Amino acid sequence: MKYAFPDNFWWGSASSALQTEGTREGETTWDYWFAREPNRFHNGVGPQHTSTFYQHWKTDIQLLKQLNHNSFRTSISWARLIPDGIGEVNPEAVDFYNQVIDELNEQGITPFITLFHFDMPMAMQEIGGWENRDVVDAYARYAQICFALFGDRVLHWFTFNEPIVPVEGGYLYDFHYPNVVDFRRAATVAYNTVLAHALAVRAYRAGHYAGEIGIVLNLTPSYPRSQNPADVKAAHIADLMFNRSFLDPVLRGEYPADLVALLKAYDQLPACNPEDSALIAEGKIDLLGVNYYQPRRVKCRDSAVNPQAPFMPEWFFDNYEMPGRKMNPYRGWEIYEPGIYDILINLRDNYGNPRCFISENGMGVENEQRFIENGQINDQYRIDFISGHLAWLHKGIREGCNCLGYHMWTFIDNWSWCNAYKNRYGFIQLDLDTQQRTIKKSGEWFAATSLNNSFER
Ligand code: BG6
Repeated sequence: MKYAFPDNFWWGSASSALQTEGTREGETTWDYWFAREPNRFHNGVGPQHTSTFYQHWKTDIQLLKQLNHNSFRTSISWARLIPDGIGEVNPEAVDFYNQVIDELNEQGITPFITLFHFDMPMAMQEIGGWENRDVVDAYARYAQICFALFGDRVLHWFTFNEPIVPVEGGYLYDFHYPNVVDFRRAATVAYNTVLAHALAVRAYRAGHYAGEIGIVLNLTPSYPRSQNPADVKAAHIADLMFNRSFLDPVLRGEYPADLVALLKAYDQLPACNPEDSALIAEGKIDLLGVNYYQPRRVKCRDSAVNPQAPFMPEWFFDNYEMPGRKMNPYRGWEIYEPGIYDILINLRDNYGNPRCFISENGMGVENEQRFIENGQINDQYRIDFISGHLAWLHKGIREGCNCLGYHMWTFIDNWSWCNAYKNRYGFIQLDLDTQQRTIKKSGEWFAATSLNNSFER
């Protein structure tokens, strides 16, 4: 069957500043944490070993062109632009981002820019990070500076990438600095992130810029083990905690009442100011980026909660391993292509069918060198992964979903936080020793799909 996509469909990929740029003056939480606990990073590889975009941006953009990208998302590093988070703007950073943005536009590749992709300036973390409202204000100032500097040439802005991940990693599950386990502090971080988002949207609207502003959320559809009411309730609570805690504020301008009631019942609500609700209502977006990697399958808990244990989302559900599920064993994530369709239908039916696009989807695979044939990685598994997801996305579009594009994670194999270079995601293979870049088979497949605006399967 031939899958043809609407005119002007966005074909591209996503990356982030910290994972690709390298060489930076301002310290982030990642630099700080790595210096103290390198053992927490796969093979002891830290954030200074990235794919050197800072040096190679021009030739990398040529590679994007070769992959027939018409759009590309990366982020601005707050710590590069304003090394201490709140003070002087670094003119070298301004030059760098100006060059990247101008070159992308010149090559016909629309820049999509994220303002925060997990990379908190250390100076801001030292005063409490997202727990401190002064940091929220500092972020709003940073956002305003970015709009003023680049808003004439960047028409698609994203306030945050996957804002729930620093909440989960830093305050619940110990995979980001500051490695806290405390639900109320996690809820405060999540809440203040929503306020920061809304302040940035307010600043963008006030500046009357020509483009649009949105956010990128990782949506993990929550599937109950069965239709038993106990399982359904478990899935509903997981959905409230992990999806709707950000989705509702940015699309409906308010939190789900049952999420608020639940946290109130367990005394976990963050401190709120009376004027916050009006601000949150102003944070409604123009465009939603959806990152989709894996579904979440849950069932009701099998055991009673230990009342001494810290309050956790898992007080309300157990994770469920569905027999026969298809897995990406390297990352430990289930592959479930219809999830992309279910997300789009949910947005269509329950959120007014917003303008949206798939802003990340991808498959991290370990030791890809074993697939080299005639000098090129033959990653047919990745082509199957992409085409499988695109087929379901296409069905969503046929049924009226307002999905405008598909971006893959990622362009060149890059540094992946605590996993460092364990799993490779790129369309382009990176040789870590020489920094040589070689297009994989999936890169060629994607280039052809983008050129034809269609593929056969
Ligand atoms: C997304 C992030 O969660 O998934 C990326 O936006 C990340 O920053 C990507 O690298 C892949 O996940 P991971 O954990 O394997 O790097």
